[in-house]
This record gives sequence, structure tokens and C-alpha cells, in this order.
Amino acid sequence: MTGRFITFEGCEGSGKSTQIRLLSEKLNKAGIPHIVTREPGGSDIAEKIRAIILDGRNTAMCDECEALLYAAARAQHLREIVQPALAAGTLVLCDRYVDSSLAYQGYARGLGLKFIEDINSFAMRDFCPDLTLFLDISPKDAFNRKHGADEGDRMEQLGIEFHSKVYEGYLKLADMYPDRIAKVECGGTKFQTAENIYNILKSHKII
Ligand code: TYD
Repeated sequence: MTGRFITFEGCEGSGKSTQIRLLSEKLNKAGIPHIVTREPGGSDIAEKIRAIILDGRNTAMCDECEALLYAAARAQHLREIVQPALAAGTLVLCDRYVDSSLAYQGYARGLGLKFIEDINSFAMRDFCPDLTLFLDISPKDAFNRKHGADEGDRMEQLGIEFHSKVYEGYLKLADMYPDRIAKVECGGTKFQTAENIYNILKSHKII
């Protein structure tokens, strides 16, 4: 049986990494085999592309180059890591996937969803997640929860206006793809959010 492909999406500081870690711990306790991976990166070649994309000194990078590099890293990571794991029947938890490109490059950068869909449909050969969990917290709330911002990489250095647009983009995508994208309520503690995620996975018969 092929494994299921679950992606996690959300703005900076939305708590994706923490939630993926908490979920992985629960799955380990339940004896459910899975791998945790991330974008951009997750394989040697894709991590090299990640380093170029996120390097704060690459201020001259144009939006088109940025979008193509994310798509290139995605293509490599998908073939090298995600698809072999799924073929072996393993559940794959991936921190970010194509919705990040749609929200960040398509919507917030203003390149347009159509252009991002086109280059990614080539990069992914239209390979879609079984389920996408969108951690629904605005960048302002995430910022307040964190009590301040990090210095940050090239993307994190973009201001609150950019990140608010990313959030708007995600809300739009959740409306466009209600069957695939589940909004995760993040108003409570991290453990309540983890419980919400577990329940969503159960209700979608992923676990
Ligand atoms: P990362 O440190 O992994 O951020 P986070 O912990 O918030 O997930 O850096 C990834 C950055 O790249 C993040 O700012 C989101 C951005 N990104 C895009 O703009 N487009 C994409 O397609 C992907 C995968 C990420």
C-alpha cells in the first residue's frame, strides 16, 4: 500500500516545526512509521538550493528566480525523498510544499497563482498531497505570541505587510481547495493544537 503525503503550511512563527515534532512523537508512540522532511531542502541537492534562496546576502535575486529555485528544490526533493518513501508505504510529513509557493511567490510577491501553478505543475508533475494542514494564525498574532521577531533569513527579513499578504494568500487557497486543505485552529496551547491536528488526521482516515 502506498503511504500518505501530508503537508504543513502556515506563516512564519505559526508553530509548524513544533507541531510536526509533537505529531511525530505521538506517531512513534502509536507505532506508526513515518518520515519528517521539509521544503525547501530535505535532500542534499535541495538543501544546497535552499542555502542560495535563503542567503540574506542575495538581495539581488529577482522574484522569478526565487520562484523557479523553490520549484527546482521541490522537484528534486519529491523524486529523491518523498516518492520513494510513499512507495514503501511510509507516511510522509512535509514542512511546506506547493501552497507555500502559491502563497509567498504567487500571492504575496504578486507573480500570480497561474504562473506558480504552471511552473510547479511541471516540477511536481501534478503530484498533490493527500492532505494539507494549514496552521491558521496571522503573522501579527504569531509575532505577539513569540514576543518579538528574529533577525531572520532573506524571507524573514521581509516586513509584516508581506507576511500579512502571505496569510491572506493561504486563506484564499483554503477557500479554493476545501477538500485538500484543512484549517487548524491554533488559538490554544501547543498541546491543544497538537490534539486538533491528531483529530483531523483521524477524521480524514490518515491514521
Ligand atoms: P524556513 O526557515 O524553513 O521557514 P519556516 O520555519 O517558517 O517554515 O524557511 C523557508 C522560507 O521559505 C519561509 O520564509 C517560507 C519560504 N518559502 C517560500 O517562499 N516558497 C516556498 O515554496 C517554500 C517551500 C518556502
